[in-house]
Amino acid sequence: MGATAVIGAQWGDEGKGKVIDLLAERADLVVRYSGGNNAGHTVINHLGEFRLHLVPAGIFNEQTTCVIGNGVAVDPEVLIGEMDQLEASGIDTTRLMVSDRAHLVLPFHRLLDRLEEERLAEHAIGTTLRGIGPAFSEKTARRGIRAGDLADREALLKKLEAALTYANLLITRVYGHDPLQLDEIFAKCMTWGDRLSGRIQQTELMINEALHEGREVLLEGAQGTLLDLDFGTYPFVTSSHPGASGAYQGAGIGPVRIERIVGIFKAYCTRVGEGPFPTELHTSEGDHIREFGHEYGVTTGRPRRIGWFDAPMARLSNLVNGYTSVILTRLDVLDQMETISVCTGYRLDGEVVEYPPSGMTVLLRCEPILEQLEGWQQSTNDFRHFQDLPDNARTYVHRLEELIGAPVSMLSVGPRRDENIIVRAAL
Ligand code: IMP
Repeated sequence: MGATAVIGAQWGDEGKGKVIDLLAERADLVVRYSGGNNAGHTVINHLGEFRLHLVPAGIFNEQTTCVIGNGVAVDPEVLIGEMDQLEASGIDTTRLMVSDRAHLVLPFHRLLDRLEEERLAEHAIGTTLRGIGPAFSEKTARRGIRAGDLADREALLKKLEAALTYANLLITRVYGHDPLQLDEIFAKCMTWGDRLSGRIQQTELMINEALHEGREVLLEGAQGTLLDLDFGTYPFVTSSHPGASGAYQGAGIGPVRIERIVGIFKAYCTRVGEGPFPTELHTSEGDHIREFGHEYGVTTGRPRRIGWFDAPMARLSNLVNGYTSVILTRLDVLDQMETISVCTGYRLDGEVVEYPPSGMTVLLRCEPILEQLEGWQQSTNDFRHFQDLPDNARTYVHRLEELIGAPVSMLSVGPRRDENIIVRAAL
């Protein structure tokens, strides 16, 4: 049996946590493959409401092994804090493993993230300030410290000294800030190493073995494709690959091992942080969606920017990921709208374009072409069958399906695990 990848299809916050929690019911392994604790998944289930940043949402299923893959940047302090919280709620975390190849987010990465955002001032990216960009930069610059390094204290001290020497040069000479102390960070690493020791493993072996044995593997995405380092709205992106290519690389499996690539789209768009957002709403409709949908960041609490569904962005997302099916979330948030607009293309210099251009200045010149659809003005929370939905809701779903270019398999009509409508059994 091949793996299933669950991928954020827009700018993150599409409701992947709920979908993973749901699909994890039948998964033997759930693997986080990219990002770090810049992500935030809300899971509401029979055990309560949880906000996870690093621990895969499969942790609530007793039979599921959860893996933080090599493609994730792991802040050990955050991970241990999350494990403590879960354990305090009676959830067993002994089934949680961390790849020895996963890079660590260390205190100097967090500091550098903040210092750089402050330096950029009005040009800032609007990062989550969790040190993710600097940690992935160190990884590609080949100065990173990996989870596996925590096991060898002597070697770790040398690596840490080299990494901190470089970081302190930046911290003191570029940003004029006080340097960070090696002994303090090393002492933290010792504590983290002790706490995480049994869990740090060659997880790619474990994942491939599970696939070989025909067990169900779920690859859990973080962020969204429009924040991808290559295909997102660069430079207003995150520093990893949230899409399908990140899924096999960040778990250590071959691409053809992924059988299903499920794109998670919201029924509208949101974005946090800076960067182009062609369909952004600055009207009371946007405020209504934000309040009705509680559109505030799980990680930073920032109000999310709201916009209409953006087909050019959705087409690109489908193009680079090749969705085998799509899950449309938060349809119920649009329940009260009189009319709903959808952006079908952009107008650029008098021409209609179907895909977003890569350059920011060009993208900023694109004007959304909006098509208006009638709202259904009725609660959809209690519907469980697609054919029972109000006609206008079905028309809306079919239109998005047509614009994305991939079949919708499920709709989410509320935050609870059971508030879903199966459209096609293609999951
Ligand atoms: P960073 O990932 O903290 O470096 O932030 C880079 C950009 O990605 C910023 O615009 C963030 O708001 C955005 N971002 C990072 N993680 C998430 C997420 O989980 N959901 C939505 N946006 C995110």
